[in-house]
Amino acid sequence: MINLNKIICNNYIEMSRYAAQIIAKQIKVRPSAVLGLATGSTPVGTYHELIKMNRAGKLDFSKITTFNLDEYYRIEKHNPQSYHYFMHKHLFSHININSGSIHIPDGDVDCADEECRRYDCMIEQAGGIDLQILGLGANGHIGFNEPSSALFSNTHLTPLTIETIQANSRFFANIDDVPKYAITMGMSSILQAKKILLLITGSSKAKIAAEIFKGRITTDIPATLLQLHPDITVIMDREAASCIAQ
Ligand code: F6R
Repeated sequence: MINLNKIICNNYIEMSRYAAQIIAKQIKVRPSAVLGLATGSTPVGTYHELIKMNRAGKLDFSKITTFNLDEYYRIEKHNPQSYHYFMHKHLFSHININSGSIHIPDGDVDCADEECRRYDCMIEQAGGIDLQILGLGANGHIGFNEPSSALFSNTHLTPLTIETIQANSRFFANIDDVPKYAITMGMSSILQAKKILLLITGSSKAKIAAEIFKGRITTDIPATLLQLHPDITVIMDREAASCIAQ
């Protein structure tokens, strides 16, 4: 019995609006909600919709807390390729969030293990994540939990696979500039979120997206572990849903 609530939207804009509505509902129900956030191309439209709601005075971010899934290692916060920079550019600089409530792993520390432990402690102290937003990697990764024979439960330092380095090279001038490591929340940290929202867009994700709906769970496709979560909604556009058996 597959436990996934599946919403298929006509296109990326509809998917983004739908996702933003769910996030807005969460914040209205609990103004001090703890949100888990993702970077990458997929959630940019959703963040744009949230900014519009905030500017229109319809959504207040002043009491929320956020935790991002991951950050490259090693990278400085002010580097335009960092996820710190990305999140400020696409969301945080445009909404009334308290800067002290924003959490992103620090990718510029000497001891990554210490940073990972600090990050897990902060999530715990915040009372856990109410709503976790996820994108899907072309190789089935979630956060930077890459396909492997074993997955880590908590926040950890991980090497990036060649597929991920290639996929993310579109944001860099040269593939050699893509960091080879990242700090990422682990699968257990992600699965402990009270609710999960997985966004999938585009035909290039269609085959890997279909794997999540087959009832098979494998660490070779980390996203298949999401089937274990009791409250997950997958919002996808038609192109991303094109390989799912009807
Ligand atoms: C980003 C992240 C990644 C991306 C995934 C999809 O914080 O954790 O898992 O969600 O690589 O990236 P896009 O949306 O660029 O296709």
